[in-house]
Amino acid sequence: MSYGLLKGKKGIISGALDENSIAWKTAIKAHEEGAQIVLTNAPIAMRMGKINELAEQIGAEIIPADATSVEDLENLYTKSMELLGGKMDFVLHSIGMSPNIRKGRAYGDLNYDWFLKSIDISALSFHKFMQVGDKLDALNDWGSVVGLSYIAAQKTFPFYTDMADAKAVLESIARSFGYRLGKSKKIRVNTISQSPTMTTAGSGIGGFDSFFDFAEKMSPLGNATGENCADYIVSLFSDLTKMVTMQNLYHDGGYSSTGISEEIIEMMQK
Ligand code: NAI
Repeated sequence: MSYGLLKGKKGIISGALDENSIAWKTAIKAHEEGAQIVLTNAPIAMRMGKINELAEQIGAEIIPADATSVEDLENLYTKSMELLGGKMDFVLHSIGMSPNIRKGRAYGDLNYDWFLKSIDISALSFHKFMQVGDKLDALNDWGSVVGLSYIAAQKTFPFYTDMADAKAVLESIARSFGYRLGKSKKIRVNTISQSPTMTTAGSGIGGFDSFFDFAEKMSPLGNATGENCADYIVSLFSDLTKMVTMQNLYHDGGYSSTGISEEIIEMMQK
């Protein structure tokens, strides 16, 4: 069911790789709610993913951009403004990658070049999206910028290795840039701390399946799905959340506030 929440709004959605991606589901919902969208992803993901299918489905253009490249992002904003005929009302940063996780390196054995890559791709790129958008005057007043985070930024989850540090930086950037953009243009900046979700990035993490089940049993509402997350993102892009900014918003079925659940106690007693 659609409510026309994003009628007349324009925005950029990054990170749609396949139909499981949080960004993919968000693009479909944002389109249903009346938004005009430009899709973007890393040039390599264009070849591997199915983003063309999504673009066709929602009548959107794709502009490839490596989120770590300022030049690519300048091109992304400039072309998006041309294509959509104006500035952006919303931007979704749905990007994460750790070469150390991909290659199974433990936290005490990190490759530091890869660590820097993890931080650049998963956190600094959030800053770049905002700095470039601001410098090019490509962001509309009262706009909304959203990034995706994970609770490993606050509590230790050993399998999340250097991504935990990247998410802590991401959340800090939301506060620091949120202050700046709030003052200058009334733009809000938030991160959503999402439940474990069955996507390419999620299931690439060691022990993900067991952890997914654990989180499901710990959360009174169960894990929030990618679809639930897309709904929440749309609400943050809409005018219904104009005064929410500089927050890390838990979207996790109650996981972050639960010490232990009855289901986990039962499992421990077996
Ligand atoms: P996904 O694998 O579908 O999306 C990750 C995207 O990042 C891909 O589209 C990939 O092409 C893109 N990407 C990687 N390097 C890039 C670069 N250099 N430039 C531009 N794009 C690049 O997975 P998912 O789960 O939808 O991930 C989206 C966000 O949600 C990520 O920030 C992830 O850390 C976060 N998240 C995911 C959770 C999960 O369990 N799946 C839980 C909490 C947060």
